[in-house]
Formats: sequence, structure tokens, C-alpha cells
Amino acid sequence: MLDQLENLGAAARTELNQLTNGSTLDAWNSKYIGRKGEITQMLRRVSELPKEERPAFGKRANELRQELEAEFAEKEAVIKAAELEQAMAAGALDVSLPGRPVARGRLHPSTQTLRRIYAIWAEMGFQVYRSRDVETDEMNFQLLNFPPHHPAREMQDTFYTTNPDVLLRTHTSPGQVRVMRQYHPEPIRVILPGMCYRHEQITARSEIQFHQVEGLAVGKGIRFSDLKGTLINFTNRLYGQGRPVRFRASHFPFTEPSAEMDVQCFLCDGKGCRICKYTGWLEILGCGMVHPTVLRNGGYDPSIYSGFAFGMGPERITMLRHGIEDIRYFWGNDLRFLEQF
Ligand code: DAH
Repeated sequence: MLDQLENLGAAARTELNQLTNGSTLDAWNSKYIGRKGEITQMLRRVSELPKEERPAFGKRANELRQELEAEFAEKEAVIKAAELEQAMAAGALDVSLPGRPVARGRLHPSTQTLRRIYAIWAEMGFQVYRSRDVETDEMNFQLLNFPPHHPAREMQDTFYTTNPDVLLRTHTSPGQVRVMRQYHPEPIRVILPGMCYRHEQITARSEIQFHQVEGLAVGKGIRFSDLKGTLINFTNRLYGQGRPVRFRASHFPFTEPSAEMDVQCFLCDGKGCRICKYTGWLEILGCGMVHPTVLRNGGYDPSIYSGFAFGMGPERITMLRHGIEDIRYFWGNDLRFLEQF
């Protein structure tokens, strides 16, 4: 029986040497050295031997199992390594390839301009007030002193909802009345940024949605010189110290007097270029002293209080700054445009 055991060992080794892949390894393992394998079966037959031969047989059988286990482990390592190498060569996994870059977004150019504007006004003591995008006709027009048949109220300029008294705000100015009603009779210094909507033909110069940043200061003894000083301070911070500005008389229903502010073209330094249409000046905002009717609508007595207001367009500021020629890029979601900022 000891001979049978050695023959079994020899057969097992021959077979093990011929193995070439992982699945045949498992079969060999259970056939010879597994719990129900041939060595175990031989050990069971130990009782067939005469008593004095049993210990030597048992010892040899266990030795043989240990030898075969060690040889199996060695063979298994060789085959697994070869299989891994093969899989990598077949391109299943190339660990030397660089990783895929993580896509990183960036701030929209309008957001970048808005944040600069917020920071400047914050330094000057103006707080951000968020007013609503969906407004009533009363807030958007009537309380801002638009006469009943003012052309701005026409259907072609305004997005009305199915309820004709409810619309998308056409400017941020209705926020003025909301702030005043919330805080009167406290002094006010706020900016009101937000999206505005107009039912217009979309062209290179006009979009149906765009941002505005409105500003409002209300208190006792506020004068036109305060408006000028504050806005000059702002443009110095945005466009650089000492850049010439000018105020031109204008008209808005909710301010009296009203003005528009120009800054000297910073692309040609006033010499005249395509961007400033050869005038040397860029119009950057509308402004004025808050109309007494509007103050009253906000709960302030115009014989005691006065105020100034202004409104500017961040897209326009961004376009001028970067020489962008078409406003449609802003909401076109074209990465080739957005990635330049
Ligand atoms: N609401 C005006 C517009 O949409 C902009 C504006 C002009 C706002 C003068 C103001 C202002 O507060 O004083 O064109």
C-alpha cells in the first residue's frame, strides 16, 4: 500500500506539471489533496494494514500531502502571474495610462462681473436685496410712475402671464418699492441684482433675458451731488482710478432729474474706436433722484426724505470689458465661449 501511495504521488506530480490555467488547478486540488481527495481516501484504508505498519504509512501519507500542497501553491502562483500578464497584454487594463481628467466648471462671465460689482458696493456700504422675478403690473410700472399708456407697457416689450396683472419684471426697479415698503422710514442703501425679461427680437445687441443691478439710497438730505460722488467712486473702483466720466441728462419716469453716465472708452482712451462707435465714450448706467411719487409709493414722505437710484447691466459691462460683440453668447451655453473666462 505504501507503493500505491508513492505511485499516487508520482501521478499527481505529473498531472500538476501539465496544468496551464486556473480552472484546471482547482480540479487537481480537489482530486488529490482536497478533503475528499485520493490521499484522504488512502488514509481511510489504513485499517487494512497490519497494526505495526500503520504509523509509518500514516506519517508518509501526511508528508506527501504537505509536499503536494507546497508544490501546488508554487504552481498556482506561476499560473496566476502568467494569466495576469496575459490579461494586461490583451489591453483589459493598462495601469500605466494617465487618469481621465476631472471636468472642472468655472463661473459664468456674468457671474464674475456680478461678484465684482457686489464686492465694490459692499465696500461702499450697500447691501444686496433680492427682489422677485415675477412681478405685478402695479410694481413693475404703476408705482414707478409709468403713465398708463407708456410704450414700455406694450405687449411687444413685456412677458405677461395669462393673468394680465402678473408679468416677468422688465427691469429691477420694482425692487425699489419693495425695499422701501419693507424698511421705511429707515435709511436705505441697497443694490438689487437679478434677471430681467423683455419680449424682444433677439439680436446681437438685445436678449430676452439679461441681468441688471439696481441701486437705491434713501435718507434725509441726499442730493444729486451724492449720486454723482457715489457713482464716480464706483467707476473708479471698477474701471480704475481717474478714468474720466460724464453725466448726460436723460429721462426715466421714476427719477427726476434723470441722467445717464458714460465712462471714457477704456479700449481707445477716448480716441475713438469700434467699441465706442468712435465717440470715445461708453454708456454704462442710468440714474437719477428718486421721483417724489415713487418715494411716496414706498412709504417715505418726499418733503422729509430724498434718494438716488441707478441701474446698470452686467452683460453690457462684460461685453465692453472683453470686447464681446454678440450678447447671444451669454445664454447660448457654448463651452468654446464660456471657457475663455
Ligand atoms: N430701469 C431702467 C431700465 O431698465 C434702468 C434705470 C435707470 C434704473 C435709472 C434706475 C435709474 O434706478 O435711476 O432701463
